[in-house]
Amino acid sequence: MGENLQEEKAKQPPSREHLPRHIGFIMDGNGRWARQRGLPREMGHKSGAEAFRRIVRYCQEIGIPTITAYAFSTENWKRPKHEVDALMDLLGEYLADLSRFQKENVRLLVLGDVAPLREDLRASIIRAEEGSRNNTGMTVNIALNYGGRDEIVHAARKLAEACLRGEMAPEDIDEAALSGSLYTAGQPDPDVIIRPSGEMRLSNFLSWQSAYAELIFMRVLWPDFTPQHLNYALHQYAGRSRRFGGV
Ligand code: IPE
Ligand code: IPE
Ligand code: MG
Repeated sequence: MGENLQEEKAKQPPSREHLPRHIGFIMDGNGRWARQRGLPREMGHKSGAEAFRRIVRYCQEIGIPTITAYAFSTENWKRPKHEVDALMDLLGEYLADLSRFQKENVRLLVLGDVAPLREDLRASIIRAEEGSRNNTGMTVNIALNYGGRDEIVHAARKLAEACLRGEMAPEDIDEAALSGSLYTAGQPDPDVIIRPSGEMRLSNFLSWQSAYAELIFMRVLWPDFTPQHLNYALHQYAGRSRRFGGV
């Protein structure tokens, strides 16, 4: 923590062969950003949404194939209704902009339990996912009503149902079967998870998939997160020695 953007490292990303294939972003600190300015929390979320658009474009520019952004957790329903509504409105706006995904060649996927979401939002999700399915520029996963534990529970149920139908036996359940039943089925695990705002926890983000992710915590608040911050984090990542239990 304590990133110094004056360093050379913030100016350019590392070379391509040192870049992660999948980055997870915990977009945190919107509320504190707003409070520091005497603004309502909703304004922090609006500004955070702009930071997100900026980062998607930059990731594509430098050649990151997949990102996952934590937008709303299964625990975030505890917030005041007006804040939850504002977050859903912002997500709705983002998801409804199918022309942007086409223009940017982005394949959009939503990770999470969409059943409890507003009808209009669910419709936008289906349209965005189906409309962007064949885009090849990069994959953008939005974790929305996402919880790592909730995801594992859903996967366990799917596998149990397959066993009951006689399609598989309990002893066929292995890591690959469980991975393949998660919202991220078929996608690579995140190589690195970046959390701004100074908090040093995962808050139920990609619990299964993060088993060997490099974790990078930064002080910057998400609305202030720029490509320079990302370059800085990517250099940290490039300097880590990933052993996966080996030597
Ligand atoms: C992250 O910012 C956005 C969501 C959790 C939806 P916060 O709203 O958590 O911002 P802080 O942590 O209160 O500053
Ligand atoms: C995590 O942030 C969820 C998102 C960024 C969407 P929170 O602000 O909800 O996490 P905690 O409560 O600080 O752990
Ligand atoms: Mg927070």
